[in-house]
Amino acid sequence: MAQSTDSQERLEAFNEKLRRLGIFGYWMRSGREQRQTEPSVLKWSTIYPLLLEAGEVVRLGGEAFRRNMGGYQIVMPGEHAAAHRHTASAMRFIVVGDGSAYTTTNGEQMFMEPGDLLVQPSFGWHDHSNPGEEPVIWMDMLDTSLIQTLEVEFREEWPGADQQPVTHPEGFHAQLYGMVRPARLIGSQLGSPQDSPPVTYKFRDARKTLELMAAEEEFDPYDGVLLEYANPATGGHTLPTMCARLQMLRPGEATRPHRHTGGVRYHVVQGQGASILDLESSKELAWEDHDSFHISSWHWHQHRNRSKTEPAILFSISDSPIAEAFGFYREEKG
Ligand SMILES: [Fe+2]
Ligand SMILES: [Fe+2]
Repeated sequence: MAQSTDSQERLEAFNEKLRRLGIFGYWMRSGREQRQTEPSVLKWSTIYPLLLEAGEVVRLGGEAFRRNMGGYQIVMPGEHAAAHRHTASAMRFIVVGDGSAYTTTNGEQMFMEPGDLLVQPSFGWHDHSNPGEEPVIWMDMLDTSLIQTLEVEFREEWPGADQQPVTHPEGFHAQLYGMVRPARLIGSQLGSPQDSPPVTYKFRDARKTLELMAAEEEFDPYDGVLLEYANPATGGHTLPTMCARLQMLRPGEATRPHRHTGGVRYHVVQGQGASILDLESSKELAWEDHDSFHISSWHWHQHRNRSKTEPAILFSISDSPIAEAFGFYREEKG
């Protein structure tokens, strides 16, 4: 039955009174669909010049402690971003750079070449340096929303200086947690984020695995050739709160639709294609090199490589391990 104008006005006035008092009625929560923004592609051709402009007009260490924008971060030649640490874990997927910039994490120098993934566990000390001639730009993903929900947000500045000293060579932590490792790291219950080592996953290694899988015809009908960056401590998801994946859509490949819990942010490493969302409306997100887009939890999606000759490669980060940890993970295949 349609609500009368009178009672609708009365309800709105009541809600407004509650808002003024800082009280939130359950009925005031907007519906799930209304809360989600319309899915769209962030074009690289839009964000890239803006990042470069931010590099000129926003002073690092002045107006900005970090120069984050649209999910990306830029450090200009000769700049340093000061050392600190926080509860939120971070993943960095490098998009632009000449390989001379690096992040120092827990004393290890982690160099940033395009396509590399740098994983920084919870409360790891980190600062960024760019001694090169070119800007370095990376896609940034942190689990801040979970940290805020849990009310466990802590943060510290590195005492007395902008940069922490480099105390470990490149690859130190990957070696320590590798195929041969200290005996104390065998069979341990290394499940907490603090137990995860900072690790650089080189693009050349990930790409080689994709190519080996493609040659073996190991593919998933919903994701194409799909790999995940394994946590070297546990062998499980990249971090307890986020997983990073790389997938290859072979020339002309179109995946079948599915939906699952967990939001996924995609970055197009290379290629041209489209992701089709929500089966009924068939909304299509067209993408190409370095574009990014987000698919919300429990939304249908499928991907298509438009090229008949070249593979498309998508990098993605999802928060699905959180739901999975509590037994809430769900998937439906179309
Ligand atoms: Fe940070
Ligand atoms: Fe998916």
